[in-house]
Amino acid sequence: MDILVEQNYESMSQTAARLVAREILLVPDLVLGLATGNTPVGFYSELVKLHEENLLDYSSLKTFNLDEYYPIPPSHPESFTNYMYERFFNHVNVPEQNIYIPDGTVESVEEYCRRYEEWIEESGGLDLQLLGIGKNGHIGYNEPGCSWDSVTRLVELDPRTMEGQSDKFDNPPTQALTMGVKTIMGADQILLLASGAKKAEVVEVALNGPVTTDVPASILQLHPNVTVILDREAAAELDGC
Ligand code: F6R
Repeated sequence: MDILVEQNYESMSQTAARLVAREILLVPDLVLGLATGNTPVGFYSELVKLHEENLLDYSSLKTFNLDEYYPIPPSHPESFTNYMYERFFNHVNVPEQNIYIPDGTVESVEEYCRRYEEWIEESGGLDLQLLGIGKNGHIGYNEPGCSWDSVTRLVELDPRTMEGQSDKFDNPPTQALTMGVKTIMGADQILLLASGAKKAEVVEVALNGPVTTDVPASILQLHPNVTVILDREAAAELDGC
């Protein structure tokens, strides 16, 4: 596992975007797994900037988002679909048919989740998966106690996950569609980002503590190709940082 510690949020975002940009330059038809949340906002701005400066072409890229609240219409301002279009897809040239985001409106959830896994498989698998980490150690919405062999499915959100979000929703969602731990671990390469003091403790536990389903991100210790990019605050509990 490579752990890079950057001075601040901006340099974390820039380093992460450059790493992904290089992969896209080398492999234009990369299959890229994406995350939402506060952490990658700067990362997406950097990728948009590279495109606007004509340095990067996304016309062969294929993307799979990790998760989406359920149920939620894509037009909801807090949906991950809306997040992705506002921050990234509306500003770059990823073809619409190459964009996969779990659909928070589907009725046949099991069938849909099976198809989501098939779409990833039919694309040749995830080349690179971007991740954030929840304060409770979740990756995607694989909450503490999830199974290591989980695949895309409907999950109950940990109450801590939705803390502080009640101002954004009339009825905060209690469920989400998420890729599973096994789906994530199937990616050839993983890029985990974390920023801010509130992530320092979980970062330390996930990277140095026991591998346990109580801290889903700890499974990344078993993946052979993980790059972690932290800002100083998120790295504060790691030895030597
Ligand atoms: C979002 C996702 C989540 C977030 C995590 C951190 O697509 O899968 O696991 O990465 O909740 O969220 P932020 O970045 O808002 O702290």
